[in-house]
Amino acid sequence: MSKARLLSGMQPTGVLHLGNLEGALRNWVQLQDQYDSYFCIVDWHALTTLAERTEEIPHNVREVAIDYIAAGLDPEKCAIFVQSHVKEHAELHLLFSMITPLGWLERVPTYKEKRENLQLESVSYGLLGYPVLQAADILVYKAQVVPVGEDQLPHLELTREVARRFNYLYGEVFPEPQALLTPAARVPGLDGRKMSKSYNNAIYLSDDAQTVTQKVKQAFTDPQKVRKNDPGHPEGCVVFALHQIYSKDDAATIETECRAGQRGCVDCKMQLAGNLNTALDPLRQRRQELLAKAGELERILREGAEKARAVAQETMKEVRAAMHLE
Ligand code: TRP
Repeated sequence: MSKARLLSGMQPTGVLHLGNLEGALRNWVQLQDQYDSYFCIVDWHALTTLAERTEEIPHNVREVAIDYIAAGLDPEKCAIFVQSHVKEHAELHLLFSMITPLGWLERVPTYKEKRENLQLESVSYGLLGYPVLQAADILVYKAQVVPVGEDQLPHLELTREVARRFNYLYGEVFPEPQALLTPAARVPGLDGRKMSKSYNNAIYLSDDAQTVTQKVKQAFTDPQKVRKNDPGHPEGCVVFALHQIYSKDDAATIETECRAGQRGCVDCKMQLAGNLNTALDPLRQRRQELLAKAGELERILREGAEKARAVAQETMKEVRAAMHLE
């Protein structure tokens, strides 16, 4: 029996952090064995925020690709590629744009939020069409499974609606893809807010051990715990939240000791930094191996795009035939 096809992707708006690792990449690494998997770096989507700073994109694309591979995506098992290397995404996006009612796009929550934060004049045509491009990313491979976070569910719903409308108008070409939601640990940033590049509170997969230790030392802890022997409140503490992910077996002991005033924040942070570095060491190892081979990353992305393009071209032949375009 052949494996079901899976596609997911991330925008190259910056290098990846622990939130990306725990929220997506670890899951993708598991899934690459079970599915015929395609992992994309969606540089055209990143233009919705980087259109005036496109010189940053090549560096980000490269770093995200390295982060994917360092996290354990294996180019022998899955296709790792850059969206703009497979032009078929753009053609399908254009064709979908003709059958997608404006009303569907204006209702998408991510669009509504961004529009409210921007001046009306700076809202681009491309931003409104963001989910149409995402539908093309998924459907050009006829992917059945799309691992994403909860915030992406409206985009997946729109993808299914576009597939249904295309099939209704031109005949059955596309499957209706399903979101694959996996319960993931929420990783707080060093200041307690969501970990995010724009909050300057992130630990990056590419941080060296010393940087990680330095960042953990600066993390917010329980403000009521001033002296080493003061009883602490782990429920609001970033360091404890990270211990629950990276010091799993010891989390119960850590909690008891903290509440009893038997554990100082400095030691607690040093223990966490050690465990974080242990968790990141295999990624650092794979990163080094990859970068030690000249041209290896470029080869992986080229071969990934070739594999993806072969599938995308087949789909586009069917699409053009269905629409009487050739
Ligand atoms: N919108 C997604 C995000 O911001 C990125 C994305 C683009 C994507 N195309 C995709 C995710 C296709 C899954 C499948 O996270």
